Amino acid sequence: MGAAEAAEYVADRGRLAVYIHWPFCRSKCPYCDFNSHVREAVDAARWRAALLRELDHFATQLPGRLVTSVFFGGGTPSLMEPQIAAALIERIANHWSVADDLEVTLEANPTSSEAANFRAFRAAGVNRISLGVQALDDAALRLLGREHDRAEATRAIALAQRVAPRTTFDLIYARPGQTLAAWRAELDEALAIAEGHLSLYQLTIEKGTPFHALQRAGSLALPPEDQAAAFFEVTQDVTERAGLAAYEISNHAAPGQECRHNLSYWRYEDYLGVGPGAHGRLSVARAGGEPALMAIRNHAKPETWLEAVQRDSHGNAETHALARDERVEEMLMMGLRLGEGVSLARFRERTGLSFERAVPPARLARLLEAGFLEMSEGALRTTPKGRAVLNTLLAELLT
Ligand SMILES: C[S@@+](CC[C@H](N)C(=O)[O-])C[C@H]1O[C@@H](n2cnc3c(N)ncnc32)[C@H](O)[C@@H]1O
Ligand code: SF4
Repeated sequence: MGAAEAAEYVADRGRLAVYIHWPFCRSKCPYCDFNSHVREAVDAARWRAALLRELDHFATQLPGRLVTSVFFGGGTPSLMEPQIAAALIERIANHWSVADDLEVTLEANPTSSEAANFRAFRAAGVNRISLGVQALDDAALRLLGREHDRAEATRAIALAQRVAPRTTFDLIYARPGQTLAAWRAELDEALAIAEGHLSLYQLTIEKGTPFHALQRAGSLALPPEDQAAAFFEVTQDVTERAGLAAYEISNHAAPGQECRHNLSYWRYEDYLGVGPGAHGRLSVARAGGEPALMAIRNHAKPETWLEAVQRDSHGNAETHALARDERVEEMLMMGLRLGEGVSLARFRERTGLSFERAVPPARLARLLEAGFLEMSEGALRTTPKGRAVLNTLLAELLT
């Protein structure tokens, strides 16, 4: 984004979600393909300055916004010095108005050394802690290459719950060797501990990870593929009965406890990405034309991003205005993950197209009739049957 475009940015109803990426981890988990890196040393002062600098750069281009959420994601942002989070939160409040109920989430790994900093992060302004627990079983944690054990994880959850007003934790299911009965028991345990929110991800074998190589070598005893649907169904049933129904494919919350930041992505609202590999979607006014939605992607490699920010004040690798069909595709891909679905009025506002013009009516009718989708109260949403086969459904809807 160049200076000439600076004045063009306009509000998406004025609201803005801010994502900040900390790309470092203590070790790389064998299943993970997130933009996370292991480095012997991280120059904290340099990283602090660069993150602030990129934030300042965007602030000059996005005046008058109301920041509704801040999300420190990673990598492992709990490895960041809490003073860096404090400086970033303070700078956000200097640049923009912030919502009275501003949500500030920190992703954290539950090792005791990171948990030791929870109070300092809370003092910095973090009010929601999201712990990457992954499993409540020691053997599974070893298999997943995690640095914590079950006891450390439950201690970290308890501490986070004492320190932060809102907490959540992540579990991965359908792990090698895991039976459906074992998952059900683990889930019951998780629900007894959780306060209002849980993220439950089915293990994905990502290309290029050590788990992928193991799978190809036939040495990863994953649950049979035909059990995937059963794992998903058990997860939906058990959480719903416990009052933590899915509001998104993998995210479960008591009413009102949904992650507002992630809701901004799924509702296709404006968000800003700061840090290596971060993405943004920002509304732009164009003189004489309809507003555009810009897609921004930052350099992923930490050192490349850092050098770019020092040189140019931002680490953007690519910026382009999304074409209509891209907006349609993205909004449906995001919104159909949500229990609430896609608002048809909002669809028109964001894509410039009525729903009837964007999706061939015959195809839509077929999917509605077959019970994969439903339309009511001005929204299109997946049924439970449709949500279980979302990728196939999207392919059908979008081709
Ligand atoms: C950016 S990571 C979490 C940050 C933190 N470093 C951690 O690991 O606890 C976000 C979450 O994605 C999930 N995840 C990562 N790779 C996954 C995979 N291959 N399959 C399923 N879930 C995955 C994990 O539950 C993880 O907590
Ligand atoms: S799962 Fe978390 S800790 Fe493990 S490599 Fe990925 S981001 Fe880092």
